[in-house]
Amino acid sequence: MEQHHLIEAENLSMYFKKVKGVVKQKISYVKAVDNVSFFIDKGETFGLVGESGCGKTTTGRAISRLYEPTGGSVRYDGADITHLNAKEFMPYRKKIQMIFQDPYASLNPRMTVADIVGEPLDIHHICSGKQREEYILELLRRVGLNKDHASRYPHEFSGGQRQRVGIARALAVNPEFIICDEPISALDVSIQAQVINMLEDLQEELGLTYLFVAHDLSMVRHISDRVGVMYLGSLVEIAETEELYNHNQHPYTKALLSAIPIADPVLSRQSGQILLEGDVPSPLNSPAGCKFASRCPYAKNECRDRAPEFKEAARGHFVACHLV
Ligand SMILES: Nc1ncnc2c1ncn2[C@@H]1O[C@H](COP(=O)(O)OP(=O)(O)OP(=O)(O)O)[C@@H](O)[C@H]1O
Ligand code: SF4
Ligand SMILES: [Mg+2]
Repeated sequence: MEQHHLIEAENLSMYFKKVKGVVKQKISYVKAVDNVSFFIDKGETFGLVGESGCGKTTTGRAISRLYEPTGGSVRYDGADITHLNAKEFMPYRKKIQMIFQDPYASLNPRMTVADIVGEPLDIHHICSGKQREEYILELLRRVGLNKDHASRYPHEFSGGQRQRVGIARALAVNPEFIICDEPISALDVSIQAQVINMLEDLQEELGLTYLFVAHDLSMVRHISDRVGVMYLGSLVEIAETEELYNHNQHPYTKALLSAIPIADPVLSRQSGQILLEGDVPSPLNSPAGCKFASRCPYAKNECRDRAPEFKEAARGHFVACHLV
C-alpha cells in the first residue's frame, strides 16, 4: 500500500484581495502564499523560515483552514480537507491545533486558566463534571503547571507560564498536528529552552507532528527534521535540516543562513556573510520571473523572465533556482 504523508500541501495559494478607490475601484491581490508544495510526515517537525512578511503564518493558517485557500489543496492523512464545510471539518479541528507567538493576546484575560483549558473540552463535548476537572489538572501537570495555577487569570503568570497554558489548551483535544507559530519569540532566552524542551518531550510522548515557524534559525535547526525556506510567498528550498544548513544551494538560503550571528568576531569575519541588498518587493506586485531576482547577486536575464521550477537537486532536497 502506498504510504501517504500526514500533511500534503499542493500548489497551495492564499491571495488577499485589495480594493482601492471608491468610485473607480482598483482591485489587486496580495500573494501572501503563492503556489507552495510540501509535505510533513507523521511524527516529524517541519521548520519554516524566511524574513518577516514572507508568508509563514499565512501558510499555517491556510493549512489549518483558519483561511480558506484561494488555490491548490491540502490533504490531511490522505484526505482532501481544502474545501470541507464547517461540519465536515469538525473532526480535523481537533486533530489540528495552533500555538501562537503571543500567549497573552490569545488567552481570554477574563477567564481562569481552568476555564481556558476546559473550553475546548466543552466545545467538542469531550468530558464534563469531575472527569473534566481531573483532566484539566492532568493537562496542567503535563505542561509543568499545578493545581494552584488553575484558578488564576492569565495576567497572574509569567510569559513562559502563559505559553504553557496555551500549550495545555492546544493539547486538551488530543491533537495529532500542532502548528507552532513563533511559540518562543516573545519569551526570555532563558525560558525559550524550557518551552522548546517541553515541546520536544510532548512530541515524543504523544507522537505529535509539528509545523514550527521561528525567526531564530539556530532554534529551528535544533528542533526540525526538515526545513523549508520561504521568500515572498514562495518556497525556494526544502531539505533535511543538516543538509539545508551545510549544503544549501539557493542564493536566498545562503544569505539568510549567513546572517546567523556568530559570537566569535574572527570566525564571524571568516564566515563570508552575504548581505542582502535592495528591498523585498511588495507581495502586491510580485515580479514575473524569480521573485528573488531584484536582490540576487547571481541574477541573469532568464531569471527576470521565467520563474524557476522547484526541482529535486538531491534526494529530498528541493531548490527553485535556474543555477541548480
Ligand atoms: N488578512 C490579511 N489581509 C491582507 N494581507 C495579509 C493578511 N494576512 C497577511 N497578509 C500579508 O501577507 C503577507 C504574508 O504575511 P504573514 O503574516 O504570513 O508573514 P510571516 O512570514 O508570518 O511574517 P512574520 O515573520 O512577520 O510573522 C504580508 O505581506 C502580509 O502583509
Ligand atoms: S533563479 Fe536567478 S535570480 Fe533567482 S535565485 Fe536563482 S540565480 Fe538568483
Ligand atoms: Mg508570522
